[in-house]
Amino acid sequence: MNLPFFIRTLITLILSIVIVSYSSLALVLLFIGWIIIFIPFSYYSAKNSITHVSNSLLSSSAVSAATVEIVENHELIPAFGTEDFEINKFDQVTEKERLAYSKAQNKIDITEFIQRLLLISLPVSITLFLIFSDTMTSLTPGSIASIFSFTLILTNQIGDFGKGVLAGTEISERLNVALKKSKNPSQIKDIKSYGHEHPQHWDIEFNNVAFSYGNDGSSSNLSEINLKIKENEKIGVVGFSGAGKTTLLKLLRGYYRPDSGQVSIGGIDLKSIHNRALTQNISEVSQSIPLFHRSIRENVAYGCEEISDEEIWKILEKAQISEFVKKLPNGLDTIVGVRGQKLSGGEKARIGIARALIRKSKIILFDEATASLDSDSGSLIQQGLSELIKDRTFIAIAHRLSTLRQMDRIILMEKGKIIADGTHESLIQQNKVYKRLWETQSIL
Ligand SMILES: Nc1ncnc2c1ncn2[C@@H]1O[C@H](COP(=O)(O)OP(=O)(O)OP(=O)(O)O)[C@@H](O)[C@H]1O
Ligand SMILES: [Mg+2]
Repeated sequence: MNLPFFIRTLITLILSIVIVSYSSLALVLLFIGWIIIFIPFSYYSAKNSITHVSNSLLSSSAVSAATVEIVENHELIPAFGTEDFEINKFDQVTEKERLAYSKAQNKIDITEFIQRLLLISLPVSITLFLIFSDTMTSLTPGSIASIFSFTLILTNQIGDFGKGVLAGTEISERLNVALKKSKNPSQIKDIKSYGHEHPQHWDIEFNNVAFSYGNDGSSSNLSEINLKIKENEKIGVVGFSGAGKTTLLKLLRGYYRPDSGQVSIGGIDLKSIHNRALTQNISEVSQSIPLFHRSIRENVAYGCEEISDEEIWKILEKAQISEFVKKLPNGLDTIVGVRGQKLSGGEKARIGIARALIRKSKIILFDEATASLDSDSGSLIQQGLSELIKDRTFIAIAHRLSTLRQMDRIILMEKGKIIADGTHESLIQQNKVYKRLWETQSIL
C-alpha cells in the first residue's frame, strides 16, 4: 500500500467523521463501528487466503518444471515409448494446478463478495438510521447530501484499501514462494554471503574440510580434506565414481560452503573473497557443456569484453576445432542450436574448453572435460592446452588416467577422503587403489 493512498484515505476518513459529527454523534459511532469491522476483516480474510494462494503458486511452478522436463527429455521419451505415461503424469500435475488455482480463486471471490456487502452496508445502515431515528428532521438537505457524498467517497477508498490488501498478499506470497525456491537448501547451501577481498596470489588450501549435501549432516560427502595446491601447479584428481571429486571442485568454486574447516585462495577464506574475483579467476569445463542458442562467437567469448575474432580463432585452434568452424557456411556466426544440439559431444567439449581458456582466469577446473574426445584428439588438445595453462593453476578430474600422467601431482579420492597424493609413477608403485584404478579404468 503506497503512502499517498494511505494519507488520502486517512484524510477522507477524518473529514467524513468531522462532517458527520456536526449532524449526529450516533452516526459517527456507526461510521467508526463499520471501519472497526471492515479493516480487520479485509486483513484477516487476506491472510486466510495465503495458504491457498501459496498452494496455487507452487502447483503452477510444478507445471512449469514438468514442461521443462518434458522438453529437455524430448528424445528420451519416444526412445523408451513412454509418451502415454508422461502425458498421464503431466495431466495429473496440470489437474492439481487447476484445483489449487480454483480453490485460491474461490477464496478470493468469497472475500471480495463479503467486502462488497460490507461496503454497501454502510450507506444502507446510514439510510435506515436516518429513516428510523428522528435525526433526519433536524438535518438540512445540504447536510444529508454531504453525509452521503462523504460516505460514498469513503466506501470507495476503503474498498480500494481492501482490494489492495488482497493484491498485496498475493504479491508478497509470490515473492515468498520465489525466495523459498531459490534458497532450496538441498540445492545450494549458504552461497550468498561473499566478501570484498581480492586475492594477491592463487595458492589453494583446503584445511580440514568436511561437507555434506544433506542438511542433517548424517552422512558426509567429504571429510578430513587437507590439500595444498601451489599457484600454477597442475593437479589430476582421480577416484571411483561417487568418491567426491566433483564435490571437491564445487567447494573450490564456491558453489557450496564447507560444514567445517576452510577453503582458501591466496590465504583468504573463500567466503571473504569478492564473487567477481572468483568468477573472473576460476574457469571450469564439465562433461556437460551448457551452450546458448547463439553463435559460436558468442558462446566462446561469453562473459568476456572486447575479444577480437583473431583471439577467438587462436583459441579454437588450440582446442582443435578451428578446422571444423572454418568449414561451416557461417563460420563463427553459426548458431549452435538449443543447448548446442547441432554439435557433436566432442565439438561441444572443444567449444567449452575454448570458452574456459579464452578468459584470463588464474585457475582452470576440468571435470571430465575431455571424456567425450577420443584419446588421440584428447592428447592433441592437451598439447595445445599445455601452452595455454602454463601460467595458470590447472585441476583436472578424469576417469581416463592416461590423460593425467603428465600432471605435477595426482590426488586420489575414496569415499569423500583424499587417500593418496603424488606423481603417477609414485602412486602406481605405492598405492594399491590407484593401481587397481589404472588397471580397471577401461571399464569405467
Ligand atoms: N547435489 C547433490 N545432492 C546430494 N548428493 C549429491 C549431490 N551431488 C553429489 N552427491 C553425492 O555426493 C557423493 C560424491 O559425488 P561426486 O559427484 O562428488 O562424485 P564424483 O567422484 O565426482 O563421481 P563421478 O566420478 O561419478 O563423477 C556421491 O555419493 C553423490 O551421490
Ligand atoms: Mg564427478
